[in-house]
Order: sequence, then structure tokens, then C-alpha cells
Amino acid sequence: MTSILIKNAEIITMNENEEIFHGDIYIEDERIIDIGKDLSYFAETVIDAKNRTVIPGFIQTHIHLCQTLFRGQADDLELLDWLKLKIWPLEASHDEESSYYSAMLGIGELIQSGTTTIVDMETVHHTDEAFQAINQSGIRALSGKVMMDKGEEVPQLLREKTNESIQKSVDLLEKWNGFDGGRIQYAFCPRFVISCTEELLKQVRDLSKKYKVKVHTHASENKGEIDFVEKERGMRNVIYLDHIGLANENLILAHCVWLNEEEKRIIKARGVKVSHCPGSNLKLASGIAETPDLLEREVFVSLGADGAPCNNNLDMFNEMRLAAIIQKPFHGPTSMNAKTVFKMATIGGAKAVGLDHEIGSLEIGKKADLAILNLNDFHIYPSFGVDTISRIVYSATRADVETTLINGKIVMHNRVLKTMDKQVILKEANKSMKRLLKRVPSIVY
Ligand code: GUN
Ligand code: FE
Repeated sequence: MTSILIKNAEIITMNENEEIFHGDIYIEDERIIDIGKDLSYFAETVIDAKNRTVIPGFIQTHIHLCQTLFRGQADDLELLDWLKLKIWPLEASHDEESSYYSAMLGIGELIQSGTTTIVDMETVHHTDEAFQAINQSGIRALSGKVMMDKGEEVPQLLREKTNESIQKSVDLLEKWNGFDGGRIQYAFCPRFVISCTEELLKQVRDLSKKYKVKVHTHASENKGEIDFVEKERGMRNVIYLDHIGLANENLILAHCVWLNEEEKRIIKARGVKVSHCPGSNLKLASGIAETPDLLEREVFVSLGADGAPCNNNLDMFNEMRLAAIIQKPFHGPTSMNAKTVFKMATIGGAKAVGLDHEIGSLEIGKKADLAILNLNDFHIYPSFGVDTISRIVYSATRADVETTLINGKIVMHNRVLKTMDKQVILKEANKSMKRLLKRVPSIVY
């Protein structure tokens, strides 16, 4: 048994009463055993968190680890060109090694910035290597291979036969779903309606029910995308997803920028989860999602950075700040406040992945997924008389994350990553990308 005692911290619990107090957290193995004032336990590891703030680890519900190596390779494009001209050819050029280092690079960044759970979408091939990276790094993840069995402009190497796509997904699911006591879960990842046949989507619907796993896809991100879907399938995107029976509480839709009234009603009625990605939506010129309206309807909205080449960071502090401030010019200064986005980033994410009984808040019995912040610096001062959640959302940066625990394991301590060698990952990521770029068809570069 391992035991950790975190002492003297300001604890932002995000429990039902949203309690914030000064105290201690005692952890045995992967769980929080006690939380309160002046705890006296003998622990193997004691972390003195005086003048530090402990928060639930961030939960990012839309990430592409396979794209981390492509950071900076596809700037200043809108979604469909970004995919066709850059991202698909780059993804098609991945091999085992580049997939692994792409994942490790992304996870290193996520852990450093306090993210402890991700909903990840890999590429068509080499997903096993991403799962290996997830396993070794200690991050909590729902991940799956992307599914693409349609689309003239999809590179040959990424175009799958329907049954092969299903078979490969099920094989990965059987290998990884529930791994390490449930820290790793499988999620089916049909990329978006444009690149999936109806047959594939219907099989995914049935399999997600059979295996009780999530379906993670992109929807209604871009105007060109929804126009294409409407022309081809005769319905608007989310109406189509509902029409084929995919819209249910296990569906996680990234983006949802372009929804009409009926689609919003479907999302609410079916319990579909929305992953809001403000950084990506701005950089790809997709638009601004109507998150205040969705929240007013009590839709489950959480946050994600999306992939490195459309953001270009995987930093929840960026996403929280953007999620709050982009709404204000259109909907007024109170339309999205710090508390609301902090909830989206923590317990809201836990609800999206159906793990709110395990993560998303700091409470006795929950998994010890947390970040320790050092909010003692120029850019976050004064602290006196200022609400801590406001400081975190509007002023803090990822560099203020000092220590990260996932599943009761210290994965970063005092900024030093414990499950990976940072210098090795940086060097190998560069080497992998150099080799990958030689494999990309010359029309791209
Ligand atoms: N839509 C289909 N594929 C993608 C992707 O990789 N990223 C984003 N942001 N949108 C997509
Ligand atoms: Fe995405």
C-alpha cells in the first residue's frame, strides 16, 4: 500500500457544496481516504502544501494525442483545408514510433498543466502505441482509434473498409478497455459524419451499447461541414445523429458550434455531452459555440483543447479563460463566469465521461486525481480579498502547477515529471517528426 498526506493546503473541493477550506488530504493507494483539518496519519510521503492550493485535476473531454507532433504545422487554415491539406496527410504518415512520441509529448504537456483525465481520439493506425504511452504515463484516459470509411479526399492510407474499422476498434477495446483498474477506457471514435458511412455509425451505436462504452466524435464544428452533411444525408448534423440512434447519454460531441433550436433540444433531451473547445474554434475560424444557452438548458458542457495543431496548446488554463471571455462581448459580462468554467473543467468533465462518482471533485472515497498550484507570483497577486477560483481562471497559468497526482500516484512533483524523462521525450519527438516529414507526400510540403 502507498500512502500520501498533503498538509496545510487551501483545498478547492468542488463537492456538492463547493467547499473551500484550509486542511489536509490523506490518500491510500489510488483513493482519497480522508480530507479535513489537522489530519494525523502516518504516511509514506508527506507533501507540505503550505501556501499552496489543491484543485481537482482537470478533465479535458476532447484531445488528439496523435496530433501533438503536428503542432505548428497547420496554422492559419479553416477546418476542412486544415484536414485535407495538412492533418490527414500527416496522420497518414505516422508509424509506431511517431505515434508513441506524439502521445508522450501531449501527455507530458497535459500533466504539466494539471490535466489528469482526457477523452482522446487517435488516428486510424498505431493506436496501440498511444495506449502504451497512456499506460506508462499514468494519465487517466478514454481513448480510441479514429474511424474513417468514407470520403474521396481522405488519403488512401487512412481510408478503411467498414468491417476492418469495426474489427480493429473492437480488438483495441478488448485489449485496453478497463486496463489498470479502469484508469484506461476505450471509446469508439468515428471521426465525423463526413468521413463515416451510415453503416459504420449504426454499428458503432450497437457496439457502444453492447460494450457500455462512450462514442466520441466531432459534430457541427464548421459551417462547411454542416452544409456538406445536410446535402448528403438530407438532415442537419445532430438531427441526423439522432435519426440513426446515436444521440444518447454515451455520446460526446466535440464543438457543437453550429446548432439550431431543434438540435439543442435533441442534445438536451437525449443527454448528449458537449465538449466545448474555444481555442480550437477560434484558431480554425469555426465560430463561437453558444455555451451560455446550452448551460441554461442544463446541457452537460465540458472543455477540451482539441489537438496541438489547432490550438496550439493543450492547456486547460487557456481553455477556461477563453471559454469565459469569448462570450462576454456578445452575451454580456456575466454570461460566463469563472466559477462556471472551473466547474466545466472539473466536475463537468467528470459528468461527461460518466465518472463523477470517481473523479472531478476532492471527496472521501474518490480517486486521488489532483493538482497542487503555487499561486504566489506577480501575475496572480494580490491574493488578499480575491476569490481563488477567479485567480485560477483569469490569472493563473500552467506554469503555476507544481505537482500533479493521478490515481493516487505522483506523476509530477515540483515540476519534475515522474513517469517520463522529459529530455528524452523532447529529443525523440523531434527525431520522430523529422522522419515522419520525409514520409509525407511531397504535394503537402
Ligand atoms: N473534424 C474532423 N476531424 C477533426 C480533427 O482532427 N480536429 C478537429 N478540430 N475537427 C475535426
Ligand atoms: Fe478534434
